[in-house]
Amino acid sequence: MNETWTLPRADDFHVHLRQDEDLPLYAREAARHFARVLVMPNLVPPVRTSQEVSAYLEAILCAAPDLHPLMAFKLSPDLTDSNIHELAKVGAVAGKVYPEGVTTHSENGVQDLRQIGHLLPAMENHALVVCCHGEKPGIFCLDREEAFLEEFSEVAAAHPQTRFVLEHVSTAAAVRRVAELGPNVAATITLHHLEITLDDVIGGNLRPHLFCKPVAKRASDRQALRKAAFSGNPKFFFGSDSAPHRMDRKECASGCAGVYSMPVALEGLAEVFDAANARERLGHFVAGFGADFYGLPRTTQTVTLIRDPWTVPAVVDGVVPYRAGETLAWRIQG
Ligand code: NCD
Ligand code: ZN
Repeated sequence: MNETWTLPRADDFHVHLRQDEDLPLYAREAARHFARVLVMPNLVPPVRTSQEVSAYLEAILCAAPDLHPLMAFKLSPDLTDSNIHELAKVGAVAGKVYPEGVTTHSENGVQDLRQIGHLLPAMENHALVVCCHGEKPGIFCLDREEAFLEEFSEVAAAHPQTRFVLEHVSTAAAVRRVAELGPNVAATITLHHLEITLDDVIGGNLRPHLFCKPVAKRASDRQALRKAAFSGNPKFFFGSDSAPHRMDRKECASGCAGVYSMPVALEGLAEVFDAANARERLGHFVAGFGADFYGLPRTTQTVTLIRDPWTVPAVVDGVVPYRAGETLAWRIQG
């Protein structure tokens, strides 16, 4: 008999499901892994209005009726309080702030987080979470996250009743800062930032399928992220940042940032937590702390992993997935 490991059915608080003909594949893959997913709004054009949130939600549910999408809109300075009100009314749970040009489809972003300051009372009144891509435009790429921490700390401390998530943290400095800030501040951590460093991306041959924003950093940063994920500190929870790009958009002269980790998300996390003897911490990281922070009920369903090694396909849904061709120890039963 193969060993099994039963967990609460997990949530993923940061996914990219894309749009049009790509959406059904990615949405179904998400449903296979997760109960609820927080869907990022960086479509082309971005999801900004209540009508766009409703239409996107409908398209997702049409593709994957079993998925419970949690909707986010792009939070930008030109929105009004009444826009925020409408967005909350259609069920959006978060607004995502993109600094200008720091990642895929982040055109017309902010130069500074303080530019959306006037919308924070409305965000708070409607219990909407402010999700931040935490990189400062115009700064050397390895220092962008740390440079963003100053304005992030100032804004989060000035609005202690507004909830902020620093998305996909990649540095020890960000982990430290999130831990120090008040209970209104949390962070998501991805699977790939728990596993890789910049060496895996560019230390040998260039590996475009590991290229994402924020880029993976040093081993000491990875160590801080692992420590945070295994710590049981409720400020740190899972967001895969699964960000599929078709092969021709990755294997080219100007490749897109984004790692398609969804096909291995839960299985990969199981491996990481198991290897660290932190098995008992995985349930909260992937199906507890995030729901608590967002004020959602914890899921009551379960998912069972079975120790039965499998090889990750070279291509899934037209995309080279994270850990393609490698063997994973755990797979989802059924
Ligand atoms: C994401 C994408 O492709 O949409 N890319 C990435 O490298 N993470 C955008 C994002 O979350 O930064
Ligand atoms: Zn993302």
